[in-house]
Amino acid sequence: MAGVEKVYQEMLSFFRPLWPGEDKPLVLGEGKSDGPALMLVGEAPGETEVVKGRPFVGKAGKNLDEFLLLAGLKREEIFVSNAVKIRPTETGPTGRKRNRAPNKEELSLFTPWLLREIAAVRPRAIVTLGNVPLRALTDGKRTVGDCHGTWMESLAGRPLFALYHPASIIYRRALAPVYEQDVKALAADLRRGL
Ligand code: URA
Repeated sequence: MAGVEKVYQEMLSFFRPLWPGEDKPLVLGEGKSDGPALMLVGEAPGETEVVKGRPFVGKAGKNLDEFLLLAGLKREEIFVSNAVKIRPTETGPTGRKRNRAPNKEELSLFTPWLLREIAAVRPRAIVTLGNVPLRALTDGKRTVGDCHGTWMESLAGRPLFALYHPASIIYRRALAPVYEQDVKALAADLRRGL
């Protein structure tokens, strides 16, 4: 076994004993795992992702389809993963579990694994969605509001392009044209061979 599958085997062995008695399955990345043009890194899986055991399905899958359409890419041409591989949850006012943003501990626990995952996949470029993966893969000081739509160096040793998380656009409609413009700029750069 080689490449990202080996990293995932080690990851599963590392995380299995960490939360005894709690149901925290890992949702791993998928797609073209041998040198894709692009690796997309989201925040963390949600409920549907955990049920299906796949990243970016359900509502987030629609966001991904929109991204792919705008960027002129196919899902099978890229690798798709998340900074944090478990679903972070909290209990809402009605007693129901709901998603929350990953906390610092979760992010620092998963970041070394994300770096190993990227090293195994060897994407030409990384695209982060929202602040969480941007924080994990840069110096931790940047926010997506400051640097969306631009290329920067990443801790993974590969060029990184920051995008707003498409889910955040649902709450901030003014970001929709900004997001679209950023994705089109990314697509143009990819066409030019970066
Ligand atoms: N689903 C994912 O897999 N990642 C996200 O960032 C959001 C939803």
